[in-house]
Amino acid sequence: MDRIRIRGGHPLKGEIPISGAKNAALKLMAASLLTADPLNLANVPRLADVRAMAELLMSFGVSIQVNMSPGLGEGDLMKLQARQITSVFASYDMVRKMRASFQVLAPLLARQGEAKVSLPGGCAIGARPVELHLSALQAMGAKIDLAEGYVTATAPGGLKGAEIVFPFVSVGATETAMMAASLAKGVTKIVNAAREPEISDLGNCLIAMGAQISGLGSSEITIEGVASLHGADYRVMPDRIEAGTYAIAAAIAGGEVELVGAAPETIASLSSLLVKSGAEVSATARGLKVRMNGSRPHAGDVTTAPYPGFPTDLQAQIMALMVVADGTSVIREKIFENRFMHVPELARMGAQIRIDGDTATVRGVEKLKGAPVMATDLRASVSLVLAGLAAEGETLVSRVYHLDRGFDRLEEKLSRVGADIARVSE
Ligand code: EPZ
Repeated sequence: MDRIRIRGGHPLKGEIPISGAKNAALKLMAASLLTADPLNLANVPRLADVRAMAELLMSFGVSIQVNMSPGLGEGDLMKLQARQITSVFASYDMVRKMRASFQVLAPLLARQGEAKVSLPGGCAIGARPVELHLSALQAMGAKIDLAEGYVTATAPGGLKGAEIVFPFVSVGATETAMMAASLAKGVTKIVNAAREPEISDLGNCLIAMGAQISGLGSSEITIEGVASLHGADYRVMPDRIEAGTYAIAAAIAGGEVELVGAAPETIASLSSLLVKSGAEVSATARGLKVRMNGSRPHAGDVTTAPYPGFPTDLQAQIMALMVVADGTSVIREKIFENRFMHVPELARMGAQIRIDGDTATVRGVEKLKGAPVMATDLRASVSLVLAGLAAEGETLVSRVYHLDRGFDRLEEKLSRVGADIARVSE
């Protein structure tokens, strides 16, 4: 199995192209089920999760063509066409491998009036139930049966617009409600909707496909259902988590990096924290520049929250920075109940971290020492790569398949700005 080897201590200098957002692309791909016409997506990142979603969609009869771009800078073009849906079944095997597969439930139901999709079950970062998705569909008139680990949803007479009030913010459930409502009869109001930029990306793509949606980016989204949607050309938004990860890479390794294609407004909570920690962060015509002059970062406290708060998907990475900061930081994880799996691995490199429930107290150390470490999930694994950039000696990160799920050609992007990083096979 492959591992990533990092030899720390090299400042970074140059440009890193930012890919299209995984968590937008996967839902945009699922939205192709809503129309018989082609949906042409540009700036699609090259990721294992994108391939898994493509495989799932093809099992429903969706035809998919990909034009791979030659360089790192421009994402791939993907043409998806669900001319005829030949199956509405998503197996446990597919959904277990990638939870985002569950997002096919709403578009299949909305277009075909039925779907049978495996319940995802828990994952490394938490239990992650889906009852909000199901109650939203029920509010729109769907009949939901749960048996043998599967959700069977039917709506023979079609879905109907409804007022959906979420008790707390869920990205996935908001997307489920939006996709279902686009083809429902009448008006749907989603109250306490998620405001993540990926929600707006999905909404804007649905609008390009003919949906009637207002309130994107706010916590109240209104959708007037239409009888059918049509094809569209749409460009996937830049990945704010990838951009944030490389911004932290520059801060932890020192140097100056321009994140070309990044959307600075989507990572404002991180940028202000990086500035407090001593980095210079500035928007440029092409993205975002991050500079750290080689001095030790200052400690800072972080609490994860739904957008526009600090993203849980950057919590592990910011912890890697705080591990080498001057002072003590308190990091609170408020979205997922088990998202500190990187802590014991960081400790193997010399980090001083105490965990108490949802709170990690990090006492910054002057130096980390490279070590063999193990990735447990996507964002945890990249935090180990970041720690490796700052550590003395060699860090070997195993279970690299986690990284490949969500970081497009990570070692290529980091080595082109001067990191000593390589994929090694055993
Ligand atoms: C999305 O997951 C992202 N995944 C996650 O990124 C991200 O961490 C998360 O949003 C929060 O920003 C994709 O977009 C594919 P939620 P999602 O529903 O939609 C609870 C990554 O690394 N909840 O907003 O599943 C849930 O357990 C991944 O790329 C319920 O209790 O997140 C969590 O505690 C990891 N019942 C909280 O809500 C429900 O029915 C927020 O989850 C739904 C959610």
